[in-house]
Amino acid sequence: MLKLKDVNVTVGRGSTLERQVLTNLNLVIDPGEFVILIGGNGAGKSTLFNVISGATPLDSGKIILDQTDITTWSLAKRVKNIAKVLQDPRLATIGNMTIEENLSFALKRTETRGLSLHKNKQRRDLFREKLTLLNMGLENRMNELTSNLSGGQRQALSLIMALMTESKILLLDEITAALDPTMAQMIMDLTTRIVTDEKRTTIMITHNTTHMTGYSNRTLRLENGQIH
Ligand SMILES: Nc1ncnc2c1ncn2[C@@H]1O[C@H](COP(=O)(O)OP(=O)(O)O)[C@@H](O)[C@H]1O
Ligand SMILES: [Mg+2]
Repeated sequence: MLKLKDVNVTVGRGSTLERQVLTNLNLVIDPGEFVILIGGNGAGKSTLFNVISGATPLDSGKIILDQTDITTWSLAKRVKNIAKVLQDPRLATIGNMTIEENLSFALKRTETRGLSLHKNKQRRDLFREKLTLLNMGLENRMNELTSNLSGGQRQALSLIMALMTESKILLLDEITAALDPTMAQMIMDLTTRIVTDEKRTTIMITHNTTHMTGYSNRTLRLENGQIH
């Protein structure tokens, strides 16, 4: 369970852009829930994700993950538990690295240093298994640079990379916004399948109204710094 309690967040502190974005925000997400988050431009949706992932500090309030208070945990400490995918797939995947190298990178990011759980063969099998889920034939192209892939393929790979670990919370920030309608549909179907199969607790920011009715358990609206 993810719980945000009386969260206040100010961004751009000390600058002319200083602004309180979240004001006494409260939110509870149950394990395995798939929640859609909507709200106008600049409402603070991405800021809320940054607060959950540990990239943006709170002025006050608490963040509880299961029974643990993670409010003061660093970004690095939270990365094992909280995975995030953004709108631009080029940010998550490294173009001049191969598919396999990208996946290794994602896996290593959360492994304890010096305690690699996966031997090479085991690791390749794991990657192949995850890539096969995509139905894109990428499991046969593991030595290709990701810069050769289409935007949709790179976004699908970003999703797999985010899921490489057993993270409890998956944050998806407008992941289909930069894709054509066919690819967007494919990524949505894939997301729903993964979320359902693996029972990951997922929050997805979207502007696409068809995503709100067809996929999620619940739609939340962020307005005036609070969840409605
Ligand atoms: N680091 C920052 N410095 C100054 N202003 C910021 C910063 N991050 C976000 N903001 C501002 O906070 C508000 C909320 O931004 P954001 O969370 O990105 O909104 P959304 O994702 O809902 O469109 C916006 O007005 C934005 O300009
Ligand atoms: Mg945003």
